Amino acid sequence: MNSIFNAKWIKAPASIEYKPVRFCKKTELAKEYLKATLYITACGTYEAYINGDRVGDFILAPGWTDYPSRLQYQEYDVTDMLKKTSEITVNVGAGWYSSQISDPWHGDSPQISRERMLKPVSLIASFEIEYIDGTRENIYTDESWSVSDWAVEYSDIYHGEICNTCKKTNFVGVDISDMQYHTLIPQEGEKVIEHETLLPVKEITTPKGERVIDFGQEITGYVSFEVDAKAGDRIVIDHAEVLDSDGNFYNENLRSARARIEYTCKDGLQSYKPHHTFMGFRYIRLTECPEKIPTEAFKAIVVFSDMKRTGYFRCSNDKLNKLYSNLVWGQRDNFLDVPTDCPQRDERLGWTGDAQVFVKTASYNYNVQKFFRKWLHDLSCNQTALGAIPHVIPDVINDQGSHFGAKVECSAAWADAVTICPWQMYLSYADTDILNDLLPAMEKYIAYIRNDGEDPYVWATGGHFGDWLSMEPTDKQFIADAFYAHSTMNLINSLSVLGRDCGRYEKLYEGIVEAFRNNHPEYNSQTECVLAIRFNLAPDIKAAVKKLADMIRKNDNRLSTGFVGTPYLLHVLSENGEAELAYTLLLQEKFPSWLFSVNMGATTIWEHWDSQREDGSFWSTEMNSFNHYAYGSVGDWMYGVMCGIKPRADAPGYKEFDFAPIADARIDFAEMEYETRYGKIKAGWKKKDRGFEYHLSVPEGTAAHVKIGEVEKLVGAGEYKF
Ligand code: BGC
Repeated sequence: MNSIFNAKWIKAPASIEYKPVRFCKKTELAKEYLKATLYITACGTYEAYINGDRVGDFILAPGWTDYPSRLQYQEYDVTDMLKKTSEITVNVGAGWYSSQISDPWHGDSPQISRERMLKPVSLIASFEIEYIDGTRENIYTDESWSVSDWAVEYSDIYHGEICNTCKKTNFVGVDISDMQYHTLIPQEGEKVIEHETLLPVKEITTPKGERVIDFGQEITGYVSFEVDAKAGDRIVIDHAEVLDSDGNFYNENLRSARARIEYTCKDGLQSYKPHHTFMGFRYIRLTECPEKIPTEAFKAIVVFSDMKRTGYFRCSNDKLNKLYSNLVWGQRDNFLDVPTDCPQRDERLGWTGDAQVFVKTASYNYNVQKFFRKWLHDLSCNQTALGAIPHVIPDVINDQGSHFGAKVECSAAWADAVTICPWQMYLSYADTDILNDLLPAMEKYIAYIRNDGEDPYVWATGGHFGDWLSMEPTDKQFIADAFYAHSTMNLINSLSVLGRDCGRYEKLYEGIVEAFRNNHPEYNSQTECVLAIRFNLAPDIKAAVKKLADMIRKNDNRLSTGFVGTPYLLHVLSENGEAELAYTLLLQEKFPSWLFSVNMGATTIWEHWDSQREDGSFWSTEMNSFNHYAYGSVGDWMYGVMCGIKPRADAPGYKEFDFAPIADARIDFAEMEYETRYGKIKAGWKKKDRGFEYHLSVPEGTAAHVKIGEVEKLVGAGEYKF
């Protein structure tokens, strides 16, 4: 058993109260040693130092899991860091464990939120030392450690950090905490790390006379600064995604999230970056700052999970390239240990619907196998005894309901992440383990819908979100019944891949389809057409496609779909003879469209088609994020249809793949690269005097099913032109 299980959970005595704390231990090694390993985790987020040097590069360790059931610990090789005598310090902040995000919906109801937010942070760690003479020793967290408050007086995921470098700190002995051991698991997801650093693009003095720095790109992360200052000088930084129509700093859409850094300087040259928080921002306001500190003192550091980039796309249309860049940033900014809806306001939660909508695009852009594996394991932990899937994972909005079998709200197209995401992991990475792990959750989920109400073939109740943020209404029951069919089909496919019997689900599926056709004979919105076609529910697909195309044309060649319909919209058109119309939608610049936000200067994907309107006005502050990746799901059409590369269920993980690009004369060329585990696929096309020339490079050990017009063939490794 890992030695961390022999260590004691330690915490600050109640007198230090709840705040970031710093644990400390001085060690003395008796003999020369060969190897030293640290196992460590915290309730809160931690940073460990040995003799002042940071251990590892994991930001916001130990990451965010469903803490009541799973808490990751990390392993670090610290052989080169320990000395004969060493000082170990570990600072621990509230993190996801006890910031407001641990109870986001009750943020303004102090009685309820205080309970979670006042939980003291705690630490557990074990150093394993292997001496040269073959003996071993462990240094555990225990009563011999001390603890102090420290310069960082306050930290909260939503609200930011307060650091007072003039503060005098006092060490006292630790208390032993009765935290759990059975929840401890080794690191399962990707660690979160710092990526690139952005320099200021310009400094603005706004009409209100405020000093604002523009980093030119909306990111998730934090600002760092290096300044020469006097003790007591204050630097206060606020963060924003956009400026308002007058060019003033605008952060009202962050709602209750303060996203503020308050720093009190000491004398001399010093640098700072936050320890236990992150923000979503492009602009910072120097709300307080000595004038002499120059703009160049500030940098923006990009922080997200350490996933390997796998996909690249480029075409002749710069606006589409910008859209692509925005959707990749949408992923970078929202894949910070869990797939979040947005990185800035008082949410930043693992919304299941957003994740399922984007998972396909995500798995082209980056290798997200490990990232989703961890999140999906949390998802199955949070499933209720009855089979419902909560709206956000880790489930922090049901007051632990999912752990005690309480009734939890469950929404179609959100909860279906339980079947959609594992299936995508199978397609993209041939990951049958995750299918296998999630199978019980999928079955329980289908049973939950089946047992809901008297008719086993319809989803009787449920608190559905519907086609969230769409431009026209779609019947929520229509969506629920359609996704019931879709998830049942995903379950059937998963069972067959795993060689299990799916007979009874095939029967169930037939019943669901029949009921669907009886109950929903008409399609009254673009999304209704899209779902009926995409999920093979329309008895007459041709007629449904015609209806959809008519609706779009009547709408001046514009879409009206929301979160639910949008990801499938272009696919159903291009798969059914309407590729030209799909391109028209993609290239549409009038609102609502993808390129509307590009023309408005977006650097990420907006939550609403019109988060900011042409006249510069905003959607209500209630719910208006400029960094929501859901509509970025169009990325999978750019890779999969425009460039034509798609994984295949019969030879997953790109062992074999499809190359069926669809070109359009309004674009001169389009090309992509995709890094599979076998090597790189390169694919694309360019416009020629007559028609298009297509090219494809197939990695060793794989094969491509080519389909371009009349050409249909299977080709092995090599370079091709068609
Ligand atoms: C989130 C969404 C989420 C939705 C549920 C919002 O507040 O930001 O992205 O899916 O709630 O309807």
